[in-house]
Amino acid sequence: MARRLLIAGNWKLHKTVEEAVALAGDIASGLVRDDLDVLVIPGFLALEPVALSLSASSVLVGGQNLFWEDQGAYTGEVSGPFLKAAGARYVLVGHSERREYFGETERTCRLRVEAALRSGLLPILCVGETQAEREGGQTEGVLESQLAGALAGFDAAQAANITIAYEPVWAIGTGLTASEAQANEAHSHIRAWLGARFNKDVANSTRILYGGSVKPANAAGLMNQPEVDGALVGGASLSAESFLGIIQAA
Ligand code: PGA
Repeated sequence: MARRLLIAGNWKLHKTVEEAVALAGDIASGLVRDDLDVLVIPGFLALEPVALSLSASSVLVGGQNLFWEDQGAYTGEVSGPFLKAAGARYVLVGHSERREYFGETERTCRLRVEAALRSGLLPILCVGETQAEREGGQTEGVLESQLAGALAGFDAAQAANITIAYEPVWAIGTGLTASEAQANEAHSHIRAWLGARFNKDVANSTRILYGGSVKPANAAGLMNQPEVDGALVGGASLSAESFLGIIQAA
């Protein structure tokens, strides 16, 4: 089954509302391809203005995180229904920066995936090993335990709505990129795990994105790998020129 590519830009803690709307406009007006999906993931404050500004465009909008309760006395949190109402279609779960700086665990990733699905959002579950784990030969074991923990208890129908992003921690924001072969191998392992845990259809249809220092210069090689179904781009998504360059190269 041919999987449609998804190129996502995670703007992290960058871009004020005004800057975000301007960037979204530049991306939408420069986008010439309609054979792949394009997603921008602004900070929460900019999400609704960006979504409104993109309403006539095919560019989709996502959130960077969500809380697992829908509403209540949870000061400082943002939930799935609020993201959905603001125009989000996707939401990141378990980005390595959430795991490293904000105490994200497999249990909390699972709660967030469940909340996203309940709200009608499409979760993008981020997994990936550290440099030490890769050097210690633990890559596959780490990926398996992150997937097993975050997807515990879900059935194949739920899994069909989940996108996976393989983001080796050592490649995020460092300028180091997994080689094409390393990315393809990790993706292939994730796909095999999905097949064993759910079924062949889930394995074949799930999009597995690569993230970690994706740039216009390396995008074509990575996206040409058979198991790579798109990219989750950080730094290079902050300018329309480089993000559109990645989209063109994909
Ligand atoms: P990077 O970030 O492209 O800046 O390495 C990727 C990510 O964190 O999603």
